[in-house]
Amino acid sequence: MFDNFRRDIKVVFERDPAARSIWEVLTYAGLWAIFYHRIAHRLWRAKYAPGSKFFARVISQWSRFLTGIEIHPGANIGKGFFIDHGMGVVIGETAEIGEDVLMYHGVTLGGVSLEKRKRHPTIGSNVVIAAGAKILGAITIGDRSKVGANAVVLKDVPPDSTVVGIPGRVVVQNGRRIDAQALDHGANLDPEGEMLRCLLRKSEELEKRLRVIEADGAAPVSATVGETCDVIDATDDVNPLLKRIDELEDRLRTLEGKLP
Ligand SMILES: CC(C)(COP(=O)(O)OP(=O)(O)OC[C@H]1O[C@@H](n2cnc3c(N)ncnc32)[C@H](O)[C@@H]1OP(=O)(O)O)[C@@H](O)C(=O)NCCC(=O)NCCS
Repeated sequence: MFDNFRRDIKVVFERDPAARSIWEVLTYAGLWAIFYHRIAHRLWRAKYAPGSKFFARVISQWSRFLTGIEIHPGANIGKGFFIDHGMGVVIGETAEIGEDVLMYHGVTLGGVSLEKRKRHPTIGSNVVIAAGAKILGAITIGDRSKVGANAVVLKDVPPDSTVVGIPGRVVVQNGRRIDAQALDHGANLDPEGEMLRCLLRKSEELEKRLRVIEADGAAPVSATVGETCDVIDATDDVNPLLKRIDELEDRLRTLEGKLP
């Protein structure tokens, strides 16, 4: 355990350019949190000491009170772990973290299931998790990967990758950029809203065409295919609606084709 403490202090100097002296570093909340966690985790794993889990919890909550960093005592954290700034970090019970991982404030390693099984992420070694990132579920982040600030990662990330955005997408792998579209977050901040607006425009267009047919039965046949709404990933809620509108459009086109 003391080896771990020593390594935890050493990495602060390696990872934080602002760290000047050991006294300064000892004031870091991120360092306190990992010290407390190493003790709490020991207690959590002690099989034959009665009440050890309770005391592990007490230490963990005390650490949370002092630092704003909540690490469940069950979380398995490797050597050289450093949380810079710290406030708002949450690390769940079944999370596993490799060696030399750097994490910033506001990160969550959370679960998406209420079942009592492995439900939190596994983080490889030498991973950087930027401020505000949320990594959810029993997924794996490969060694040497980087998770961008405010990303929400829901799927496995291969080693040597950079993942950014919501939902998180791998944009760099082994130093090579792999998905240009994934970076266009600014262009599409409201994908569901955009999808609904597109559906509304489509239904208005269909209604107009139907009204023309009903009016005199000899309307000019619109050969134009209306705009498609499949440019964006539709959510499960929108997909059936989109399908119905597409069917309606097909039937209307057939009807228009039969007109004199
Ligand atoms: C992701 C990160 C770790 C850099 O990783 P990297 O592998 O060096 O990636 P790059 O900087 O080359 O970025 C790759 C692409 O992702 C984009 N990107 C980077 N971070 C992003 C983010 N958080 N959200 C959305 N896109 C992001 C970049 O704009 C770049 O796109 P471009 O090629 O079109 O310019 C870094 O950008 C990051 O998020 N750092 C935050 C660190 C932090 O939390 N600091 C707080 C200190 S208090």
